[in-house]
Amino acid sequence: MTAPLVTRVAKADAAAVADAARVLAAGGLVAFPTETVYGLGADATDGRAVARVYQAKGRPAFNPLIVHVADLNAAQGLGRFDADAARLAAAFWPGPLTLVLAKTAHCPVADLATAGLDTVAVRMPDHHVARDILAAFGKPVVAPSANRSGHLSPTTADHVLADLGGRIDLIVDGGATPVGIESTIVGCLGEPVLLRPGGLPRAAIERTLGRKLADTPAAGTDDAPLAPGMLASHYAPRTPLRLNARRVEAGEALLAFGPTPAEGTEHAKSVLNLSERGDLIEAAANLFSQLRALDAAGAGAIAVMPIPADGLGEAINDRLARAAAPR
Ligand code: TXA
Ligand code: MG
Repeated sequence: MTAPLVTRVAKADAAAVADAARVLAAGGLVAFPTETVYGLGADATDGRAVARVYQAKGRPAFNPLIVHVADLNAAQGLGRFDADAARLAAAFWPGPLTLVLAKTAHCPVADLATAGLDTVAVRMPDHHVARDILAAFGKPVVAPSANRSGHLSPTTADHVLADLGGRIDLIVDGGATPVGIESTIVGCLGEPVLLRPGGLPRAAIERTLGRKLADTPAAGTDDAPLAPGMLASHYAPRTPLRLNARRVEAGEALLAFGPTPAEGTEHAKSVLNLSERGDLIEAAANLFSQLRALDAAGAGAIAVMPIPADGLGEAINDRLARAAAPR
């Protein structure tokens, strides 16, 4: 994996907020408090920064992340608000509620952050440190809980340091988080659906909507995403995928990796390379957009060259295997 970073810890003052905005702008990783739990923030519009989030957490799979914004105007640039979504945002933002919305046509969020989906999870946190950082940075920020995959969500800066020290650039210490559990997630893509229970009680949401929330049979967590076929069903290309391909067959498009061309590359209908230098962070950042582009190439199949299994390779291979599974 990559060399360890020096993780700075700073008390949440004006200098730390400015520092956080600088690190985010440079594509780095900043842990900061929200009212729910500490989040691990990165520039949501920068695919490589988003890839570093998965790497730092050691997540074995790419699940879609929540995008944090400073105000309603910014949220409306990312997702389309139907009447229910607008009512919920007006009643509970800023606060521990995340809305899953249809992406806008010009949504600037990186494909990796939404795991290739046409929907985006958006939230406006209610914590002065989070809000100051979002305002200073001026762009949307992905922020899953700032813990190693499979560990508990952190509610203090010490928890974050214990889990992610040496793996991220900066921790902004704003004390213990008041709510202590993650935001409630509601899907607003038609009938509102409770996707994850959390810091905002269901009853408050139902009172505001004037009706019951639909339930998902198995709500997702960040380490166990929603099952395929549900609201967060995995992005999958229509064109069949052929994995671990060392040569290109007739009629195939090629998703390449690394500097060495596959045999028959010159005959491929279309070729994209996840990372010519064999960099897994770059490959992760390119994965969903290149799959989409090759899916549109009209090939009989997409041959995918072998991807190493170390580091982010595990999550890349996980997603490729799902995309290749028969449907
Ligand atoms: O309280 C919170 O929400 C914390 C703090 C740091 O803000 N953040 C957090 O983020 O929990 P994250 O990225 O770990 O949440 C991911 C959850 C997963 O359950 C994922 O399936 C769901 O959000 N999610 C994200 N995008 C989605 C989408 N487009 N459709 C359905 N679910 C989505
Ligand atoms: Mg988590």
